[in-house]
Amino acid sequence: MHLISIDDLSTADIETLFRLSDGFLEVASRPIKKVPTLRGRTLINMFFEASTRTLTSFELAGKRLSADVVNIKASGSSVSKGESLKDTILTLESYRPDILVMRHDKVGACRMATRYTNARVVNAGDGSGEHPTQCLLDLYSLRRTYGSLEGLKVAIVGDVLRSRVARSNVFGFRKMGIDVRLVGPPTLMPPGIEQWDVPVYDDLSALEDVDVVYLLRMQLERAKGTVPPVPSLREYSRIWGLSPQRLRSGQRVMHPGPINRGVELTGDLADSAPSLILHQVESGLAVRMGILYHVLAPHPGEGPLVEEPLA
Ligand code: NCD
Repeated sequence: MHLISIDDLSTADIETLFRLSDGFLEVASRPIKKVPTLRGRTLINMFFEASTRTLTSFELAGKRLSADVVNIKASGSSVSKGESLKDTILTLESYRPDILVMRHDKVGACRMATRYTNARVVNAGDGSGEHPTQCLLDLYSLRRTYGSLEGLKVAIVGDVLRSRVARSNVFGFRKMGIDVRLVGPPTLMPPGIEQWDVPVYDDLSALEDVDVVYLLRMQLERAKGTVPPVPSLREYSRIWGLSPQRLRSGQRVMHPGPINRGVELTGDLADSAPSLILHQVESGLAVRMGILYHVLAPHPGEGPLVEEPLA
């Protein structure tokens, strides 16, 4: 199977992934952090947009599963010479990869890639479309912290307009029984938000009764050439920035990273005990090992898997 949208997975698939991730989390605590699960398989990470966490964790995930891993970035590849996405994928297909993990600035680029490769495609973020693996690692981090997801209350706060994380998380969190709401200024909510069928608030008082405040980065680099969605970052942080004083005792804070200290949250909040930010990063590696295994595992109704290498 491919993993393009969080909707590609059922609740049962997500539970399976959690169980796999529990095992891989244990592997990460061993002195030798490697298992032979994907020996002989080839993973290509194609990252046409900047990344620290997602790329590093997919690279380490592949290596810890014993796959052969190649990373390609737009700068330094033939994309910078004008090669089209189709031609890049057809070229890489000649090497018969088993999995392509792809990040691209255009919505739908990963779905398109599935047409030109026999590899399983994993969406590592497509423009302001989706970021399903972030949603899965966030769910796993919540499950590790709270034990159960059903009935948890989470507010997703900030730049929903440009956030692929918000799109995947609203739908993925709700699928797992989490009570989700969106909070932020109306200029940062996408047109048609009513159809998401999720409560939207433009006031921080909507954070009072939630268990978790999930902050989004102000993604100004994705707003190039448009009217700025907020008057200034200083104004935004004054009204919407989260500090320890604005948090109720017992509440936790999440953020997909990269964080902007002093904009969506204060530095002391990022470094404080209620912050799950680095816990999310740790969960991300185990979950991505689980995802690499899961997309190659046989799924009902699919053709044969990519051939076994000569034994
Ligand atoms: C997110 C992304 O790239 O969408 N980061 C990530 O993958 N950890 C969020 C962001 O860029 O703000």
